[in-house]
Amino acid sequence: MSSPEEGFSLPIEARPSLQEAARDRFHIRTFGCQMNQHDAQKMANLLHHAGLAASDRAEAADVVVIHTCSIREKAEHRLYTELGILLARKRAEPGLVVGVGGCVAQQEGETLLRRFPKLDFVFGPQNLVHLPAMVDAARARDRSLRVDYDDAPGERFDLPQRHPAYASPTPGRAFVTVMEGCDLFCSYCVVPRTRGREVSRPSAQILAEVRALAEAGTSEVTLLGQTVNAYGRPRPGQIAGELAFADLIRRVAEVPGIRRIRFTSPHPSFVTPELIRAFAEVPELCPHLHLPVQSGSNRVLEAMNRRYDRETYLEIVARLRAARPGIAVTTDLIVGYPTETDADFEDTLRLMNEAGFADSYSFKYSERPGTPAQRRGLGELDDARVQARLERVQDVQRSLTLDAHAARIGTRLEVLVEGASRHGDGQLTGRSDDHRIVNFRASGPAALGSYLPVDITGCTPHSLLGTSPGIPA
Ligand code: 5AD
Ligand code: SF4
Repeated sequence: MSSPEEGFSLPIEARPSLQEAARDRFHIRTFGCQMNQHDAQKMANLLHHAGLAASDRAEAADVVVIHTCSIREKAEHRLYTELGILLARKRAEPGLVVGVGGCVAQQEGETLLRRFPKLDFVFGPQNLVHLPAMVDAARARDRSLRVDYDDAPGERFDLPQRHPAYASPTPGRAFVTVMEGCDLFCSYCVVPRTRGREVSRPSAQILAEVRALAEAGTSEVTLLGQTVNAYGRPRPGQIAGELAFADLIRRVAEVPGIRRIRFTSPHPSFVTPELIRAFAEVPELCPHLHLPVQSGSNRVLEAMNRRYDRETYLEIVARLRAARPGIAVTTDLIVGYPTETDADFEDTLRLMNEAGFADSYSFKYSERPGTPAQRRGLGELDDARVQARLERVQDVQRSLTLDAHAARIGTRLEVLVEGASRHGDGQLTGRSDDHRIVNFRASGPAALGSYLPVDITGCTPHSLLGTSPGIPA
């Protein structure tokens, strides 16, 4: 239930070689969703191949890119805090290059450059490919390449093909973009404005990337898209004869070396019978679905333009459970949507219990510029009331998560080892196939990126606890 918009920095695995120490260094500060995190990896890869070396600290870098998120106002504010610090530093270090990318860059464009004249460049999510050129121009004090946020169709998807990836932040796991953008226009959401309209990536390109990743040791792939399961649906002006999403999953599962497939984030409208059947028939497809519901009130769902009602949502959950017993369903919830009454909110709490969510991200509604809700002038509800609702949602979730975790005590789970646990107590951490965090001690060898059996002995609301005999003989 942590907030997904916490900033994160790309981990640097190796210490710089002598040669690297002489190169200019870049740092990418990323906020927001997994798509943004993945885009940050693509950006790091482009800069690496343009001759720059990665730095895990902004203070040690010559080029700093703030990679923004605009989904809620709080996330957007982070940009202004970070930018203030960097531009103050630039007064003492005029050679420092500072750029802003991501969704706020797309939304604000030139306004950002006018407001912050010392800012070197601004680029939207569809224009990552131009990042090295923008950095070069900034270093040469050429101010002609300061803003870039027009769509560059055809180029945005083939970035991984351009260069081999230079380091996977998590051994064994990788993201693969399958589509981008959204055509659904939920009333609260800024994404269709920042990420543009729905575009599917050619399946041949996706499968080639998965094959290359698998050959390089990746065994778990997460297929990414804003409405990922809308993949391949016929769109005007797009290539005919693409695979449907469920068929794409089956093709990915056939790639030698792929053991786990996940995808995020789907929309309930595109959970087809074929996709549900894939959960029953494709063992590589992990028994976890993150399926954002947003509200349990039919009135609010309609006002949000979500295109389904609570009954339809619960029916999908029931079918998933029938197809794949034990599947973990997680969700996103927005509380305090304008006009949400106490009765609407109670409907949300009831739905949480009926769906039995293993986990959820919950957010206070935040009015975003240019969205249908903002244009309707709906405003926001009283913050104290919304905060109280958020806390009740989180209490209900804590107890549901604990129940889901307690049910796993005494079982043996297969865990993909990601690294040392955050607690710094010698434990390892990884994820089970149903996406639970598992912290454990291993009595035998345990390589990063390997799969270990873990006997679950305890739990918290955040993780499962256990012990492992180490790599099976
Ligand atoms: N206010 C609050 N939460 C939002 N989300 C999207 N837009 C908003 C908004 N304006 C949430 C939704 C979505 C998740 C990624 O962020 O729950 O599923
Ligand atoms: Fe936003 Fe709705 Fe599209 Fe998701 S489906 S990105 S919430 S408009």
